[in-house]
Amino acid sequence: MMKRRYAEIAGWGMYVPSRVVPNDTFVTMGLDTSDDWISSRTGIERRHLVAPDEATSDMAVRAAQGAMGVAGMNASDIDLVIVATCTPDHVMPSTASIVQDRLGMLNAGAMDLNAACSGFVYALATGAAQVESGRSKNVLVIGADELSIYLDWKDRSTCVLFGDGAGAVVLRPAAEPGLMGSTMGSDGSGASLLTIEGGGSRVRTNRNGVHPNGHANGSNGAHDAPMNYLRMNGPQIFRWATQIMPRAAEQVMAASGLKPEHISLFIPHQANSRIMEATAKRLGLPKDKVYSNVREYGNTSAASIPIALCEALKTGRVAVGDYLVLSSFGAGLTWAALALRWSVQIPTHVTAWQPIRRQVQTRMAAVRSVLRRGDRAVRTQIDRRLGKGD
Ligand code: UT7
Repeated sequence: MMKRRYAEIAGWGMYVPSRVVPNDTFVTMGLDTSDDWISSRTGIERRHLVAPDEATSDMAVRAAQGAMGVAGMNASDIDLVIVATCTPDHVMPSTASIVQDRLGMLNAGAMDLNAACSGFVYALATGAAQVESGRSKNVLVIGADELSIYLDWKDRSTCVLFGDGAGAVVLRPAAEPGLMGSTMGSDGSGASLLTIEGGGSRVRTNRNGVHPNGHANGSNGAHDAPMNYLRMNGPQIFRWATQIMPRAAEQVMAASGLKPEHISLFIPHQANSRIMEATAKRLGLPKDKVYSNVREYGNTSAASIPIALCEALKTGRVAVGDYLVLSSFGAGLTWAALALRWSVQIPTHVTAWQPIRRQVQTRMAAVRSVLRRGDRAVRTQIDRRLGKGD
């Protein structure tokens, strides 16, 4: 009989921008808010925001390099890259393809997955299914978002909540269960509760000229158009989140044969400390079993759970054999949860040559990418001269 194949997390990495913005900055900007209101209602004290030239793929690459370093894998070992993001570099190509090229993963398929803040757990479940089925061997799963570029800095009810960042894990096959039960859900009837309307095919805010069908094509407003701002009904999302996060967690615990007393660490989506506390209470989990770093980063959307996982690992909150539950909610509406048994030793230090090796690999990937572009351009010229491809 063929042995069942499981998936486990073999490596992990995170990246947050260096620019730290404390709550007081909003008061300085003239917003009618206070450090006291933000920290007491949300638990957030500061967030990290991208530099003007920093795109989602830049953060994703940094997190992925860390994850591959811990896993001891080369770019050629990865067969699939999934980037969970709702703030991709472009509508197309996918951010995953940009990451694949930047890291030189010549054997990898690449795709983006948009389930907003639930995206990383969706991507983890999808990547695990690929590994378990044998369709992929090693899968790089990244959660990366920079919602700050979609925020209306005059709207105090949203702009104080979000931060930017990325987290990544590498999945590999295992003989024992690593990733266990998972659940994914959606209720699109709540789509309008949390939305960035513009930029897609329904609300056209970033096109020039007139469409051949004759209809108006919208203004060329790009991110400055109000339709491209994030809008949210906070109180409704809050109420729903306190119900759906524990429900999703309960489902995966039941499917994995786990009871609250088995759980060593619960990692919820880091949106608001009050939502996390209410969720833990409903699950019957004590405070010390709930990981929270919302104070430092705010809500980093699809990056929030992998960043929290990385920090939990770094600070010794996870040991081999521990059972962890991840649970998330977000725009869509979407939700997802996943249970896992931690199965790999946690390295206590990074060897000096690891960052050097990483840098060399990234440089080589950049050179290879330039050569491939050059090769494509030369071949196109030759084909033209020979009259091929017309
Ligand atoms: O990844 C998913 C993303 N979304 C979320 O997780 C959001 C979930 N919702 C929340 O976290 C909370 O609903 C918020 C933090 C957004 C708001 O907290 P709340 O306790 O639900 O406050 P509220 O919206 O009911 O507003 C209470 C008051 C209002 O003033 P009035 O109408 O009572 O005079 C707001 O205008 O607080 C006001 N307010 C603020 N005051 C100072 C809203 N934002 C601010 C602010 N500073 N930043």
